[in-house]
Amino acid sequence: MRGEDMMMADKTIDQLCEELLARKERARLPEGKEAVDKQHKRGKLTARERIDKLLDPGSFVELDEHVEHRCSLFGLENRKIPGDGVVTGYGTIEGRLVYVFSQDFTVMGGSLGEMHAKKICKVLDMALLNGAPVVGINDSGGARIQEGVDSLSGYGNIFFRNVKASGIVPQISIIAGPSAGGAVYSPALMDFVFMVDKIGIMHITGPAVIKAVTGEDVTSEEIGGAMTHNQKSGVAHFFAANEDDCFLQVRKLLSFLPSNNMEEPPFADTGDDPERIDIRLRELVPTNPNKGYDVKDVISCVVDNGDFFEVQPYWAQNIVTGFARVGGRVIGIIANQARHLAGCLDIDASDKASRFIRICDAYNIPVVNFVDVPGYLPGKTQELGGIIRHGAKMLYAYSEATVPKITVILRKAYGGSYLGMCSKDLGADVVLAWPQAEIAVMGAEGAANIVFKREIDQAEDKEAVRRQKIEEYREAFANPYVAASRGFVDRVILPEETRREIYQALLLSETKRELRPKRKHGIMPN
Ligand code: HXC
Repeated sequence: MRGEDMMMADKTIDQLCEELLARKERARLPEGKEAVDKQHKRGKLTARERIDKLLDPGSFVELDEHVEHRCSLFGLENRKIPGDGVVTGYGTIEGRLVYVFSQDFTVMGGSLGEMHAKKICKVLDMALLNGAPVVGINDSGGARIQEGVDSLSGYGNIFFRNVKASGIVPQISIIAGPSAGGAVYSPALMDFVFMVDKIGIMHITGPAVIKAVTGEDVTSEEIGGAMTHNQKSGVAHFFAANEDDCFLQVRKLLSFLPSNNMEEPPFADTGDDPERIDIRLRELVPTNPNKGYDVKDVISCVVDNGDFFEVQPYWAQNIVTGFARVGGRVIGIIANQARHLAGCLDIDASDKASRFIRICDAYNIPVVNFVDVPGYLPGKTQELGGIIRHGAKMLYAYSEATVPKITVILRKAYGGSYLGMCSKDLGADVVLAWPQAEIAVMGAEGAANIVFKREIDQAEDKEAVRRQKIEEYREAFANPYVAASRGFVDRVILPEETRREIYQALLLSETKRELRPKRKHGIMPN
């Protein structure tokens, strides 16, 4: 018998249980109440408070609370802290299994060392094996400096698992504190990034390094704040005013997602009649193609109870993406927004939409496209920025997607952008068009100026001839019937019937199974 076992044998079961409870208590408050007060003073909840607010009450089951680091350098040999700066485990959201990890800033700034990383890897592995989403709450000073390359290896192991689980189980990242250096890449490899205002910061290099290297004066908020990444960089998908708001949004997002890629997204009885006619739709989109409107008004009329959960609402606003339900069935919506850049596709819009399409495809969510697009945004910045390769991503994502694809042409559908918004040729299962739809290579004015240039130039009254030619072109192409006569449009519908038509298309494609030739993976344009 070893010494330890003998000592244990000398104790009663009650003593052993007392010891366990004492250990648990120490793990629950690893650095004491003072550290908790400090965290609260920073305007942040603790790792455990966050989990409690995120999950269904009382559902959290903690794992690895006794884990400690193995570092014996720089004073850490005398600083063993149970849990090692991250709380991990599982629980439920609306009764569905979810894995979580929540970094504890009160323990060495939530820094990530070997064992801390192992705990995160364990829940990522379990989430993948058991087919359940994972939510990571980030609040960390990054790689634990004392643990050197073991910390870096820890990050590498997390990245590897993020990629392995990608498209299999939903992965959600919450930034509720610092997330700096290479540490930003686990959130970036996950499906959705939420950032909490004022406390969430993400950057590769901070203000001091930037000052030293480039001489620029910047603040953390300017380069890494919640609104910065929601509005300017597109790194984040959701902005939360505070932590409570953030957890509610995460719960709502999960209500649209299946637990894994083998399941259908959750059906919900919304009580909204799928056959409902909405006459407001007749007036919402002006027949004059130069007039703007808010496509979100169209979306609200069509979806169940007007409930649209927008993804990336602040970035690339010329395209709108998000989740909703029609007849209780989850759909992913991609819509051109006429009131921003006239709804043109540009670099950011293409990146935003293509990623969203791939998310829908991965999680068996049918995509519904509302099209009113005049073309790709012209300009030197766009061309030199690579609109060719960025724009190609949308063609790629739509063509690759095998989920049901339903396209509704509201008004303009011109040129390459007509294809880029999922025309019949890119595999749309059902294409619907409103009576004011114009499906053409370009707008009537541009087309007339090119095709009838000679006649216009030679005419005495150039303006009159130009106008006449524009009218002729408009008559010929500025309607849905030429495309419908070729079968590129399946049905020309009354605007007020859009919801019913989408619902029927969803029912029709419910049993869709599209098999493609086997391959390792395609080569997506970058
Ligand atoms: C070890 C760390 C730490 C780290 C913070 N702490 N970051 N310990 N390794 N990376 C400790 C502090 O020493 C302190 O310990 C406690 O956490 C709280 O930190 P404070 O500085 O007091 O808090 P605050 O003023 O709020 O500042 C937070 C901070 C700052 C902005 C995160 O701590 C900071 O700049 N830390 C270093 C960040 C960094 O350079 N990390 C490495 C990034 S590179 P005590 O004992 O005093 O409470 C990286 C590479 C990843 O992450 C690569 C992946 C591929």
